[in-house]
Amino acid sequence: MSATTSPISLLDTDQILAALRALRGRQPVKYAAFYSSQLGGIVTDPALMVIPFDDHMVHRGHGIFDTAGLVAGRIYDLDAHLDRFIRSAGHSKLTLPCPRERMREIIVQTVAASGQRDGAIRYWMSSGPGSLELSPAAGAEPGFFVMVFPGLSYPERWYTDGLKVMTTTYPIKPSLYAITKSTNYLPNVLMQMEAKAAGVDNGVFIDANGHVGESSNMNVAFVTADGVLRHPKFDHILAGCTSLRALELAQALVTQGLLAGVEVCDIPVNDARAAREMLLLGSSVKVAPIVEWDRQPIGDGKPGPVARALLRLLEEDMRTGDRLIPVPYSA
Ligand SMILES: Cc1ncc(COP(=O)(O)O)c(C=O)c1O
Repeated sequence: MSATTSPISLLDTDQILAALRALRGRQPVKYAAFYSSQLGGIVTDPALMVIPFDDHMVHRGHGIFDTAGLVAGRIYDLDAHLDRFIRSAGHSKLTLPCPRERMREIIVQTVAASGQRDGAIRYWMSSGPGSLELSPAAGAEPGFFVMVFPGLSYPERWYTDGLKVMTTTYPIKPSLYAITKSTNYLPNVLMQMEAKAAGVDNGVFIDANGHVGESSNMNVAFVTADGVLRHPKFDHILAGCTSLRALELAQALVTQGLLAGVEVCDIPVNDARAAREMLLLGSSVKVAPIVEWDRQPIGDGKPGPVARALLRLLEEDMRTGDRLIPVPYSA
Protein backbone atom coordinates (compact mmCIF):
# COMPACT_ATOMS: atom_id res chain seq x y z
CA MET A 1 0.00 0.00 0.00
CA SER A 2 1.46 3.35 -0.96
CA ALA A 3 0.71 6.49 1.08
CA THR A 4 0.57 9.82 -0.73
CA THR A 5 3.07 12.26 0.65
CA SER A 6 3.50 15.91 -0.21
CA PRO A 7 7.13 16.79 -0.80
CA ILE A 8 8.87 18.98 1.78
CA SER A 9 10.72 21.92 0.26
CA LEU A 10 14.41 22.52 0.62
CA LEU A 11 14.36 26.24 1.45
CA ASP A 12 16.72 29.03 0.43
CA THR A 13 17.47 32.15 2.49
CA ASP A 14 14.84 34.34 0.81
CA GLN A 15 12.11 31.76 1.38
CA ILE A 16 13.08 31.49 5.03
CA LEU A 17 12.94 35.25 5.51
CA ALA A 18 9.56 35.35 3.81
CA ALA A 19 8.30 32.54 6.05
CA LEU A 20 9.59 34.29 9.19
CA ARG A 21 7.88 37.53 8.13
CA ALA A 22 4.62 35.68 7.42
CA LEU A 23 4.82 34.01 10.83
CA ARG A 24 5.21 37.38 12.57
CA GLY A 25 2.40 38.80 10.45
CA ARG A 26 0.07 36.16 11.91
CA GLN A 27 1.00 37.01 15.50
CA PRO A 28 -0.59 39.92 17.35
CA VAL A 29 2.38 40.65 19.66
CA LYS A 30 4.41 43.71 18.77
CA TYR A 31 8.07 43.21 19.56
CA ALA A 32 9.67 46.66 19.29
CA ALA A 33 13.40 45.93 19.43
CA PHE A 34 15.67 42.96 20.06
CA TYR A 35 19.36 42.87 20.96
CA SER A 36 21.36 39.72 20.42
CA SER A 37 24.99 39.25 21.38
CA GLN A 38 25.05 36.53 18.72
CA LEU A 39 23.94 38.97 16.01
CA GLY A 40 26.15 41.69 17.50
CA GLY A 41 23.50 44.41 17.60
CA ILE A 42 19.85 45.45 17.68
CA VAL A 43 17.10 44.59 15.19
CA THR A 44 13.62 46.06 14.96
CA ASP A 45 12.21 43.70 12.31
CA PRO A 46 10.44 41.00 14.39
CA ALA A 47 11.21 38.43 11.69
CA LEU A 48 14.90 38.75 12.56
CA MET A 49 14.46 38.30 16.32
CA VAL A 50 15.77 34.74 16.37
CA ILE A 51 18.22 32.53 18.22
CA PRO A 52 19.85 29.28 16.99
CA PHE A 53 17.88 26.12 17.76
CA ASP A 54 20.98 24.50 19.25
CA ASP A 55 21.50 27.19 21.87
CA HIS A 56 21.28 25.15 25.07
CA MET A 57 18.69 27.60 26.39
CA VAL A 58 16.34 26.28 23.69
CA HIS A 59 16.80 22.53 23.91
CA ARG A 60 17.97 22.05 27.51
CA GLY A 61 16.52 25.05 29.32
CA HIS A 62 20.04 26.15 30.28
CA GLY A 63 19.25 29.83 30.38
CA ILE A 64 17.90 32.52 32.66
CA PHE A 65 15.79 35.63 32.20
CA ASP A 66 14.35 38.63 33.95
CA THR A 67 11.83 41.35 33.15
CA ALA A 68 11.82 45.01 34.12
CA GLY A 69 9.09 47.57 33.51
CA LEU A 70 9.22 50.60 31.22
CA VAL A 71 7.07 53.47 32.48
CA ALA A 72 6.65 56.80 30.67
CA GLY A 73 10.04 56.47 28.99
CA ARG A 74 11.99 55.38 32.07
CA ILE A 75 13.10 51.94 33.25
CA TYR A 76 11.84 51.00 36.71
CA ASP A 77 14.00 49.28 39.34
CA LEU A 78 16.43 47.84 36.76
CA ASP A 79 19.24 47.40 39.28
CA ALA A 80 17.14 45.13 41.50
CA HIS A 81 16.22 43.05 38.42
CA LEU A 82 19.86 42.91 37.30
CA ASP A 83 20.97 41.81 40.78
CA ARG A 84 18.52 38.91 40.58
CA PHE A 85 19.59 38.13 37.00
CA ILE A 86 23.20 37.85 38.10
CA ARG A 87 22.26 35.70 41.09
CA SER A 88 20.29 33.43 38.73
CA ALA A 89 23.34 33.20 36.45
CA GLY A 90 25.44 32.08 39.42
CA HIS A 91 22.92 29.38 40.45
CA SER A 92 22.83 28.18 36.83
CA LYS A 93 26.63 28.16 36.41
CA LEU A 94 26.35 30.53 33.47
CA THR A 95 29.34 32.70 32.63
CA LEU A 96 28.39 36.35 32.21
CA PRO A 97 28.66 37.25 28.51
CA CYS A 98 29.89 40.74 29.51
CA PRO A 99 30.23 42.83 32.67
CA ARG A 100 27.03 43.88 34.46
CA GLU A 101 27.54 47.55 33.53
CA ARG A 102 27.70 46.61 29.84
CA MET A 103 24.47 44.56 30.15
CA ARG A 104 22.80 47.57 31.75
CA GLU A 105 24.03 49.81 28.93
CA ILE A 106 22.80 47.35 26.27
CA ILE A 107 19.36 47.22 27.91
CA VAL A 108 19.11 51.03 27.98
CA GLN A 109 20.27 51.31 24.34
CA THR A 110 17.84 48.64 23.16
CA VAL A 111 14.97 50.52 24.80
CA ALA A 112 16.17 53.75 23.14
CA ALA A 113 16.25 52.01 19.73
CA SER A 114 12.73 50.66 20.28
CA GLY A 115 11.27 54.15 20.71
CA GLN A 116 8.78 52.52 23.08
CA ARG A 117 7.84 54.55 26.18
CA ASP A 118 5.71 52.01 28.07
CA GLY A 119 5.85 48.26 28.29
CA ALA A 120 8.43 45.77 29.46
CA ILE A 121 12.00 44.72 28.82
CA ARG A 122 12.81 41.04 29.04
CA TYR A 123 16.39 39.85 28.81
CA TRP A 124 17.93 36.38 28.74
CA MET A 125 21.33 34.82 29.25
CA SER A 126 21.94 31.50 27.50
CA SER A 127 24.73 28.99 27.72
CA GLY A 128 25.17 29.27 23.95
CA PRO A 129 24.92 27.06 20.85
CA GLY A 130 27.22 24.41 19.47
CA SER A 131 25.85 20.97 20.34
CA LEU A 132 22.83 18.97 21.43
CA GLU A 133 24.62 17.72 24.55
CA LEU A 134 23.74 18.74 28.11
CA SER A 135 26.88 20.53 29.28
CA PRO A 136 27.76 23.67 27.30
CA ALA A 137 29.40 22.88 23.96
CA ALA A 138 33.17 23.24 23.68
CA GLY A 139 33.95 26.89 23.08
CA ALA A 140 30.30 27.91 23.50
CA GLU A 141 29.89 31.64 23.98
CA PRO A 142 27.13 32.62 26.43
CA GLY A 143 24.40 34.64 24.75
CA PHE A 144 22.71 37.82 25.94
CA PHE A 145 19.37 38.88 24.45
CA VAL A 146 17.07 41.81 25.18
CA MET A 147 13.49 42.21 24.00
CA VAL A 148 11.38 45.36 24.33
CA PHE A 149 7.67 44.59 24.11
CA PRO A 150 4.30 45.94 25.29
CA GLY A 151 4.38 43.82 28.47
CA LEU A 152 1.82 41.40 29.86
CA SER A 153 -1.62 42.80 30.54
CA TYR A 154 -4.47 41.60 32.71
CA PRO A 155 -8.22 42.21 32.73
CA GLU A 156 -9.40 45.41 34.44
CA ARG A 157 -11.77 43.28 36.56
CA TRP A 158 -8.74 41.85 38.40
CA TYR A 159 -8.35 45.27 40.01
CA THR A 160 -12.02 46.25 40.33
CA ASP A 161 -13.54 42.90 41.36
CA GLY A 162 -10.47 40.88 42.37
CA LEU A 163 -9.24 37.51 41.13
CA LYS A 164 -9.94 33.90 41.92
CA VAL A 165 -7.18 31.39 42.50
CA MET A 166 -6.85 27.69 43.23
CA THR A 167 -4.24 25.56 44.94
CA THR A 168 -2.40 23.86 42.12
CA THR A 169 -2.06 20.11 41.93
CA TYR A 170 1.47 20.58 40.52
CA PRO A 171 4.38 20.35 42.94
CA ILE A 172 6.35 23.49 43.76
CA LYS A 173 9.91 23.58 42.42
CA PRO A 174 12.66 22.57 44.84
CA SER A 175 14.10 25.72 46.46
CA LEU A 176 17.24 26.06 44.32
CA TYR A 177 15.15 26.10 41.14
CA ALA A 178 12.42 28.30 42.62
CA ILE A 179 14.86 31.05 43.64
CA THR A 180 16.49 30.94 40.17
CA LYS A 181 14.69 32.70 37.33
CA SER A 182 15.62 30.09 34.76
CA THR A 183 13.88 29.30 31.49
CA ASN A 184 12.46 26.13 33.11
CA TYR A 185 8.91 27.36 33.75
CA LEU A 186 7.07 24.10 33.09
CA PRO A 187 5.46 23.91 36.58
CA ASN A 188 4.48 27.58 36.34
CA VAL A 189 2.97 27.11 32.87
CA LEU A 190 1.07 23.98 33.90
CA MET A 191 -0.25 25.66 37.03
CA GLN A 192 -1.63 28.61 35.05
CA MET A 193 -3.16 26.36 32.41
CA GLU A 194 -4.74 24.20 35.10
CA ALA A 195 -6.28 27.27 36.74
CA LYS A 196 -7.67 28.59 33.47
CA ALA A 197 -9.12 25.18 32.66
CA ALA A 198 -10.81 25.18 36.08
CA GLY A 199 -12.36 28.58 35.35
CA VAL A 200 -10.24 30.61 37.78
CA ASP A 201 -7.51 33.19 37.16
CA ASN A 202 -4.37 31.58 38.53
CA GLY A 203 -2.86 28.96 40.82
CA VAL A 204 -0.90 28.95 44.07
CA PHE A 205 1.95 26.59 44.94
CA ILE A 206 2.06 25.13 48.44
CA ASP A 207 5.34 23.66 49.70
CA ALA A 208 5.94 20.23 51.24
CA ASN A 209 5.59 21.72 54.76
CA GLY A 210 2.16 23.13 53.99
CA HIS A 211 3.43 26.71 53.67
CA VAL A 212 2.25 29.10 50.98
CA GLY A 213 4.66 29.51 48.07
CA GLU A 214 3.84 31.73 45.12
CA SER A 215 1.75 31.99 41.97
CA SER A 216 2.71 31.35 38.33
CA ASN A 217 4.77 34.48 37.68
CA MET A 218 3.79 36.51 40.69
CA ASN A 219 4.14 36.44 44.45
CA VAL A 220 1.30 36.31 46.94
CA ALA A 221 0.94 38.07 50.29
CA PHE A 222 -1.74 38.37 52.96
CA VAL A 223 -3.19 40.82 55.43
CA THR A 224 -3.95 38.96 58.65
CA ALA A 225 -7.16 39.46 60.63
CA ASP A 226 -5.20 41.75 62.98
CA GLY A 227 -3.83 43.84 60.12
CA VAL A 228 -0.29 42.52 59.57
CA LEU A 229 1.00 42.32 55.99
CA ARG A 230 2.59 38.88 55.73
CA HIS A 231 4.74 37.66 52.87
CA PRO A 232 6.23 34.16 52.47
CA LYS A 233 9.99 33.91 53.02
CA PHE A 234 12.10 34.16 49.89
CA ASP A 235 14.09 30.97 50.51
CA HIS A 236 11.73 28.70 48.51
CA ILE A 237 10.15 31.13 46.04
CA LEU A 238 11.40 33.78 43.65
CA ALA A 239 12.47 37.01 45.34
CA GLY A 240 10.01 39.25 43.52
CA CYS A 241 11.38 42.74 42.98
CA THR A 242 7.81 44.05 43.28
CA SER A 243 7.26 42.27 46.59
CA LEU A 244 10.57 43.50 48.01
CA ARG A 245 9.72 47.08 47.06
CA ALA A 246 6.10 46.77 48.22
CA LEU A 247 7.27 45.51 51.62
CA GLU A 248 9.33 48.71 51.96
CA LEU A 249 6.55 50.96 50.70
CA ALA A 250 4.09 49.29 53.09
CA GLN A 251 5.86 50.95 56.02
CA ALA A 252 3.97 54.11 55.06
CA LEU A 253 0.71 52.19 55.61
CA VAL A 254 1.93 51.17 59.07
CA THR A 255 2.56 54.85 59.85
CA GLN A 256 -0.92 55.72 58.56
CA GLY A 257 -2.46 53.00 60.75
CA LEU A 258 -3.83 50.96 57.81
CA LEU A 259 -1.44 48.12 58.72
CA ALA A 260 -0.32 46.91 62.14
CA GLY A 261 3.02 45.62 60.82
CA VAL A 262 4.92 43.92 58.01
CA GLU A 263 6.34 40.39 58.32
CA VAL A 264 8.24 37.98 56.08
CA CYS A 265 7.70 34.50 57.51
CA ASP A 266 6.52 30.97 56.78
CA ILE A 267 2.75 31.08 56.27
CA PRO A 268 0.81 27.86 56.95
CA VAL A 269 -2.02 27.44 54.44
CA ASN A 270 -4.71 27.42 57.12
CA ASP A 271 -3.52 30.75 58.55
CA ALA A 272 -3.43 32.14 55.03
CA ARG A 273 -7.03 31.12 54.36
CA ALA A 274 -8.13 33.14 57.41
CA ALA A 275 -6.58 36.34 56.00
CA ARG A 276 -8.53 39.56 55.63
CA GLU A 277 -6.90 40.24 52.25
CA MET A 278 -4.82 38.25 49.80
CA LEU A 279 -2.62 40.04 47.27
CA LEU A 280 -0.92 39.15 44.03
CA LEU A 281 2.33 41.02 43.35
CA GLY A 282 4.61 41.18 40.32
CA SER A 283 6.20 43.52 37.80
CA SER A 284 3.42 42.97 35.28
CA VAL A 285 0.38 42.78 37.59
CA LYS A 286 1.78 45.27 40.15
CA VAL A 287 -0.67 44.67 43.06
CA ALA A 288 -4.05 42.99 42.56
CA PRO A 289 -6.55 41.71 45.13
CA ILE A 290 -7.39 37.99 45.31
CA VAL A 291 -10.95 37.59 46.58
CA GLU A 292 -11.47 33.85 46.28
CA TRP A 293 -9.18 30.88 46.88
CA ASP A 294 -10.34 27.31 46.25
CA ARG A 295 -13.94 28.57 45.89
CA GLN A 296 -13.86 30.14 49.38
CA PRO A 297 -13.96 33.92 49.87
CA ILE A 298 -10.96 35.73 51.30
CA GLY A 299 -12.19 38.11 54.02
CA ASP A 300 -15.50 39.57 52.86
CA GLY A 301 -14.84 38.41 49.27
CA LYS A 302 -14.23 41.97 48.04
CA PRO A 303 -11.03 43.84 47.15
CA GLY A 304 -9.59 45.34 50.33
CA PRO A 305 -8.02 48.67 51.29
CA VAL A 306 -4.42 47.41 51.61
CA ALA A 307 -4.36 46.08 48.04
CA ARG A 308 -5.67 49.43 46.82
CA ALA A 309 -3.27 51.50 48.89
CA LEU A 310 -0.22 49.39 47.96
CA LEU A 311 -1.11 49.61 44.27
CA ARG A 312 -1.28 53.40 44.58
CA LEU A 313 2.09 53.56 46.37
CA LEU A 314 3.72 51.29 43.81
CA GLU A 315 2.31 53.21 40.84
CA GLU A 316 3.57 56.45 42.36
CA ASP A 317 7.01 54.89 42.88
CA MET A 318 7.03 53.75 39.24
CA ARG A 319 6.28 57.28 38.02
CA THR A 320 8.14 59.55 40.41
CA GLY A 321 10.33 57.43 42.71
CA ASP A 322 14.12 57.30 42.84
CA ARG A 323 14.44 53.95 41.03
CA LEU A 324 13.89 55.25 37.51
CA ILE A 325 16.52 55.21 34.78
CA PRO A 326 16.15 57.70 31.93
CA VAL A 327 16.39 56.42 28.35
CA PRO A 328 18.29 58.50 25.74
CA TYR A 329 15.65 58.33 22.96
CA SER A 330 16.74 60.05 19.75
CA ALA A 331 13.45 61.96 19.43
C1 LIG B 1 7.79 32.56 39.72
C2 LIG B 1 7.71 34.03 39.93
N1 LIG B 1 7.43 34.51 41.16
C3 LIG B 1 7.34 35.83 41.38
C4 LIG B 1 7.56 36.76 40.37
C5 LIG B 1 7.46 38.23 40.66
O1 LIG B 1 8.70 38.88 40.48
P1 LIG B 1 8.78 40.41 40.06
O2 LIG B 1 8.05 41.18 41.10
O3 LIG B 1 10.22 40.71 40.06
O4 LIG B 1 8.13 40.54 38.73
C6 LIG B 1 7.86 36.30 39.09
C7 LIG B 1 8.10 37.25 37.99
O5 LIG B 1 9.20 37.49 37.63
C8 LIG B 1 7.95 34.91 38.86
O6 LIG B 1 8.23 34.45 37.63
